[in-house]
Amino acid sequence: MTTAREPRAVAWHGTNGAPRLHIVTGKGGTGKTTVAAALATALAGEGRRVLLVETEERQGISQVLDVAPLGTEETEVATGLDGGAVWGLSIEAGAALVEYLRLFYRLGMAGDLLQKMGAIEFATTIAPGVRDVLIGGKIYESVRRTTAGRAPGARRGRDPDAPPAYDAVVLDAPPTGRIGRFLDVTGQLADLAKVGPIRNQADAIRGLLHSGTTVVHVVTLLEQLPVQETLDAVRDLAADGLRIGAIVVNQARDDSVRSTVDVVATQEPDPARMGPQLESVGIRTTPAMLEGLALTAAEAVERRDLELSLEDAVAGAGRPVLTLPHLPEGVGPDAVWRLAAELADQGVRP
Ligand SMILES: Nc1ncnc2c1ncn2[C@@H]1O[C@H](COP(=O)(O)OP(=O)(O)O)[C@@H](O)[C@H]1O
Ligand SMILES: [Mg+2]
Repeated sequence: MTTAREPRAVAWHGTNGAPRLHIVTGKGGTGKTTVAAALATALAGEGRRVLLVETEERQGISQVLDVAPLGTEETEVATGLDGGAVWGLSIEAGAALVEYLRLFYRLGMAGDLLQKMGAIEFATTIAPGVRDVLIGGKIYESVRRTTAGRAPGARRGRDPDAPPAYDAVVLDAPPTGRIGRFLDVTGQLADLAKVGPIRNQADAIRGLLHSGTTVVHVVTLLEQLPVQETLDAVRDLAADGLRIGAIVVNQARDDSVRSTVDVVATQEPDPARMGPQLESVGIRTTPAMLEGLALTAAEAVERRDLELSLEDAVAGAGRPVLTLPHLPEGVGPDAVWRLAAELADQGVRP
C-alpha cells in the first residue's frame, strides 16, 4: 500500500527577516526567464524589494520586461504586485572579478586597469570553475547585503542588525543541463584552488546554497523531454543537498480546451456519425473533411492522455506544483504581471 503524502509547502520568504534566494532553472526554452520575472513580481508585493538576477549577458530579462539591457549596476525594472519594486542586475564574471579584487585586496589602480582592459574580454580567460565562484559570490553578496551598506560612508553590509537590502533575490539560472555544475561551486574548484580566498568564497557560497535560505524551482512544459529533465534535475539537485521549491508547469493549456477534449474522448469520433450531425446544423461536409476532423479529435485525445500522464509524473516528484497558462498574446510586461497574479493566486506570498 502506498500512502499519498502532501508535498511540503514552499516557504516563499525567509525567516527572521532573512531574504530568500530563489533559483529558477528548467530545460532551455521552457520559460525560465519569464517565470523568474513573474516570481520576482509576485514576491515584490506589499512594498517589498526583490532583486531579479541574470548571469552572463543573456539579456532575457530586459526583453521580457521591455526595459533597457541590464547592466552590472542594479536598476529598478518593474513594479511588484500590490506595490513593491523589482530591481534587475546582470552579473558578468569580469565585472564580478574586478569588484571582488577591490573588496578583498583593496585593489585601487590595478582594479581600474582591469576594468579598462575590458571586463568582458577578460572574463573569457577566467577558468569556468572560478567564473561560477565569482558569479556566485556576487549573488551571495546581494543576498547578504543590508541596508546599512547603502548609507554613505557605511561599511558595506557589516551591521548584522540592519534590514536586508532585498527581501528576496530571484536568479534566472542556467538550464537543467548545467545547473548542477553551476551550483557545485566547491566541486568545480577541487583542483584549481584548494586553499585561499577563492576557496573561502566558494565555501561561503556553498553554505548559502545549502542553507534554508535557498530554494531551487524547476520550470517545465507538459512535454516528454522537459518533464524528464525536470524529474532528473529534482532528483540530482536533492541528492546534492539542495532544497527543491516548486515545479512550475508553464504554458499549460486552457481548461476549456481540456474539457472539450474530455467530451470528445467519451465518443468515438466516427466520420459516418459526424457527417449527418454537421449537415443537420447546415455545414456541408466532404469525406476528406470528416476524416480530417476524426484524426484531429483522435490526436487531441492522445495529447490529453499524454498530458495527464505527464501531470502524474510531475506530481510524483513530491513537490508543490504551480501551473501557469499559455498566453497566446506572447510575453511582455503585461503578461509577466498576469503570470505573477496567477502565482499569487496559487499561494506565492511576498
Ligand atoms: N506562459 C507563456 N505563454 C506564452 N508564451 C510564453 C510563456 N512563457 C514563455 N513563453 C515564451 O516562450 C519562449 C521561451 O520563454 P523564456 O522565458 O525566454 O524561456 P527560457 O528562459 O527558459 O529560455 C519565449 O518566446 C516566451 O515569450
Ligand atoms: Mg532565458
